[in-house]
Amino acid sequence: MKQERTDLFRRAFELGANYDRQKFDRPPRTGVSRDELLSSLGGPTPENGLSELDALEALVKAAEPGLQVSTGARFMGWVVGGSHPVGMAADWLTSVWGQNCANYECSPAASVSEDVTADWLKDLLSLPEECSVGFTTGATMANFTALAAARSEMLHRIGWNVELDGLQGAPRLRILIGDEAHTTVFTALSLLGFGRNQVKRVSTDDQGRMRVDALKESLEESDTAAIVIAQAGQINTGAMDPFKAILSLLKDRNAWLHVDGAFGLWALACPQLRSQLDGVDGADSWATDGHKWLQVPYDAGFVFVRHAEAHRRAMATPASYLPVQSDIRDPSHYVPELSRRSRAFAVWAIIKTLGREGISEMIIRHCHLAKRLAQQLSQVPGIEILNQVSLNQVIVGFGDDEQCGKMIESLARENRYLLGGATWHDRKVLRISIISWFIDEAEIDGLAEDIIRLWRELDA
Ligand SMILES: Cc1ncc(COP(=O)(O)O)c(C=O)c1O
Repeated sequence: MKQERTDLFRRAFELGANYDRQKFDRPPRTGVSRDELLSSLGGPTPENGLSELDALEALVKAAEPGLQVSTGARFMGWVVGGSHPVGMAADWLTSVWGQNCANYECSPAASVSEDVTADWLKDLLSLPEECSVGFTTGATMANFTALAAARSEMLHRIGWNVELDGLQGAPRLRILIGDEAHTTVFTALSLLGFGRNQVKRVSTDDQGRMRVDALKESLEESDTAAIVIAQAGQINTGAMDPFKAILSLLKDRNAWLHVDGAFGLWALACPQLRSQLDGVDGADSWATDGHKWLQVPYDAGFVFVRHAEAHRRAMATPASYLPVQSDIRDPSHYVPELSRRSRAFAVWAIIKTLGREGISEMIIRHCHLAKRLAQQLSQVPGIEILNQVSLNQVIVGFGDDEQCGKMIESLARENRYLLGGATWHDRKVLRISIISWFIDEAEIDGLAEDIIRLWRELDA
């Protein structure tokens, strides 16, 4: 039995390492259809089991052809990190260790590694020391958690206990959010009982930044307690909201400022970029991802809340059978779930490997590469860079929408790079997100050459 397990793990390691090696040569987009995957992965419910080794081999054979090479250097279609090798290795061990990091007693090492990495993260991002921190699946749940804390606190201040008395019959809160906020924030709000029609969308400028005059006008409409949601890193342009100006509008108001910084908050880790987020540390809560710029393998997000008591009130899961240590932080008191995987081990290993310097260098490298690409493309007549490239995002327009659509199709057909499409301010655009650990100058120059060649062919 013991030997079999060693063989199984060794084989899993070999298969994983093979995949990882090939990822630099494989086209980033799978060529396999859903029907082919249904046939390779599908079939009736197994009656009699296979051996563990055979089941593993069968899984790899059936699933691998359908993998998009999202951990490679040519995947730039969405804001997806590249799974740092040490993070992957630590994540394997996390599975082997199988810790449930619900509370300290269930896994002291998981709990303490959250405490330690929470402090490191606050330090790297220059967020206030007093913040409480939760480890989530991603930014969607980090936003949800922060906004639950905001809801709790803002209602608490006007004498309503939402945890006990719910939202029906509660005093009204106003929610103000930039018109170009990420779609998942609206989902988080609706899960919290703030429907899309109840939220005030504040107009934005050509980069997707919240307009301060529009926010001022909305705030002046009423004195009702407000939750204002700003953004660090717009999904298409990478733009940052003007935090300092927003905070000065909120100064004498009963308001909570939350910042969705799924990837953009990481600019705080670079002294050269920090000024883009001037004032952001004055907010009440922040959400960011680990699986984007920190390169944690899927999945990992972080929520930071300045008002730890509100955070805990919104999330704590008390029960008589669950151990409580009053002086020790229980991980489950800061996120919606009780049982969950210990994401902090991979975070710990990545921060330990890269250090403050390495993280900052990586982010700066990606931002330089984005500028380099934009610079090369903008030399060519008919190709337009449609955002101010100050972070890792580049959005590109080609002639008219039809031509842009054709460019997106041609690039997908060539399948040397996986890129995305979107509509930005009524115009079809090619979206490029430079955020994977492995992307370097050679990849970016290759991408620029491909785009320019295809555009010249189309425009001839
Ligand atoms: C600005 C922003 N907010 C929220 C999200 C949602 O993050 P996740 O997919 O990690 O839940 C994203 C994802 O790209 C994002 O860019």
